[in-house]
Amino acid sequence: MAYRAIAIDGPAASGKSTVARRLAEQLGLTMVNSGAMYRAVTWEVLRREMDPGDTPEVLKLLRQVRWGCVIRDGATIMSVDGVEPAMSELKSDAVNASVSLIARIPEVRTLLVEKQREFLELGDLVMEGRDIGTVVFPSTPFKFYITASEEVRAARRAAEGAADAVSERDKQDSERKVAPLKVADDAVVIDTSELSIEQVLEQVKSKLNELGW
Ligand code: DC
Repeated sequence: MAYRAIAIDGPAASGKSTVARRLAEQLGLTMVNSGAMYRAVTWEVLRREMDPGDTPEVLKLLRQVRWGCVIRDGATIMSVDGVEPAMSELKSDAVNASVSLIARIPEVRTLLVEKQREFLELGDLVMEGRDIGTVVFPSTPFKFYITASEEVRAARRAAEGAADAVSERDKQDSERKVAPLKVADDAVVIDTSELSIEQVLEQVKSKLNELGW
């Protein structure tokens, strides 16, 4: 039997990670955070003091390094030549500021999309990101686009204590040539600005029911 994927896309700080994680817990599914994978490549570029805008150098690094990716205790863990950066390192201000430069490189996306698709061999899953419904699993009927107003998203990030220029990052992620952030034609769009997590989860689950999950 082929396994099924629930795709959850949306801009930064829209609430999609929380929704994806809670949904996976409630339905007993594997949860994959694809953003952690782009963050791990960025972390390694910065650790080596390379310029994230220097694409030829990033491509060399991509070939030199052994990139691994596993799901452990519900977390998506990338390893870089066997070293696993901690989530706190992946969420640093420096990584926030550079990750969109790395995510726009087509070869980086090809490498990571291949790894993302391999996870479907493990079982039914929830995957969150920017291009899961449009590029990674375009044929899944279970697609959600989670969004929120710019003010609400900036406030959520600030409450977490992160100095993350969410609107600038979203602009870069939406305007890039390859796999930009956009709503899949057949995605269910949910604006979380004035909803609680519970309300969002209820909407997602009722839609999944309707779609025959
Ligand atoms: O979900 P996140 O904020 O942790 O993602 C970090 C960055 O990774 C995001 O700004 C763009 C990139 N990304 C992407 O290009 N495609 C994905 N499927 C997931 C993340």
